[in-house]
Amino acid sequence: MRRSSRLPDHFESNPLSRLLAELQAAGAPVLDLTRSNSTACGFSYPEAAIRAALSGPSVLRYAADPRGSSEAREAVATHHGHGLRAEDLLLTASTSEGYALLFKLLGDPGDEVLVPSPSYPLFEWLARLEGLQARTVPSYFHERWHLDLGALESAVGTRTRAIVVVNPNNPTGHFLSRSEWAGLTEFCARQDLALLVDEVFADYALEPPVDRLPTALDDLDPPCPVFLLSGLSKIAALPQVKLGWIAARGPGSAASLEALAFLADQYLSVSASAQAAAPALLALAPAIRGQVLARLRANLATLDAALADRPHLSRLPVEGGWSVLLRRPALDADDTCALRLLREAGVLTHPGSFFDLPGDGHLVLSLLTPESDFREGLAQALPSL
Ligand SMILES: Cc1ncc(COP(=O)(O)O)c(C=O)c1O
Repeated sequence: MRRSSRLPDHFESNPLSRLLAELQAAGAPVLDLTRSNSTACGFSYPEAAIRAALSGPSVLRYAADPRGSSEAREAVATHHGHGLRAEDLLLTASTSEGYALLFKLLGDPGDEVLVPSPSYPLFEWLARLEGLQARTVPSYFHERWHLDLGALESAVGTRTRAIVVVNPNNPTGHFLSRSEWAGLTEFCARQDLALLVDEVFADYALEPPVDRLPTALDDLDPPCPVFLLSGLSKIAALPQVKLGWIAARGPGSAASLEALAFLADQYLSVSASAQAAAPALLALAPAIRGQVLARLRANLATLDAALADRPHLSRLPVEGGWSVLLRRPALDADDTCALRLLREAGVLTHPGSFFDLPGDGHLVLSLLTPESDFREGLAQALPSL
């Protein structure tokens, strides 16, 4: 049987995942400093309230609305504020599904979206599975991360339909500055491009610069079409609920939402329980986020203390998000280094190459890791760097 060329040629896992599987099968202890599944990181969730929210009486009724229930959309609009209205929103089963709908809305097979890199590695596949190509445009680090607006503008071709940015970015933690936002929206307007802004980590500012754009919704009247993506996965640390959303602003937003509703109507993938639970889960979210933020800050302080007497190692600023980039002398390739740390120190880290970090000399750690694992993992890994 022939298979679509949108799929990968093979489904083999990478050498790091293979080594991890081998070690786990052999019962070897591994300290995982890459954990991003918040439900497996020892947070204390209000279990009874979450269960109650997911099993209210309305879960027994099917009342299909391709945009999502108005009650859930009202709750999401209230969560965001900034003048967002229920009618500006469309619910999805995840941010990934939001991307899939937007790529179907914006492009034809062979069209392109531009993605500043390093960034979330899923974009390549999310675009490709919709027949589009995600073209990466390197950002650069000079005291902090910067979008290369000139390079983005030069990369725009006749098939470019949109730019995708993550605010703050994963894994660099970069918040867009207000001037980057002004430059981006102005050039998207000029080039007739849509701007997709993924703000799943926007509530997790750790070392935010004063000129950061806390959210794209600060711009009440952007000059280009802006689609903001977010969801419960990160803002309430509830990825299993499977509820995300798209907020549309700027020129043509009402018509875009109508077309998105047509697309969503073909699948109707958001469950009744996720929609019914949304208002209650959003009300619980600040308390859960508080625990996550405390964890992120504690691990960052642990890392700083561990780096204090290792001048050959450092970390990049973490403006926001759940990850930190550890900088090390590039004596070997990042992939080789991550394999070595796993094999010899029993510590799992991600090489910068997983996220398209340029060159060698970066490992990516998750600040969500339970604190004792993080401390112990650093104690075992840092002497080998
Ligand atoms: C930038 C970014 N967007 C979206 C997601 C996932 O969101 P969802 O679970 O809603 O698909 C992640 C998960 O790590 C992410 O890093």
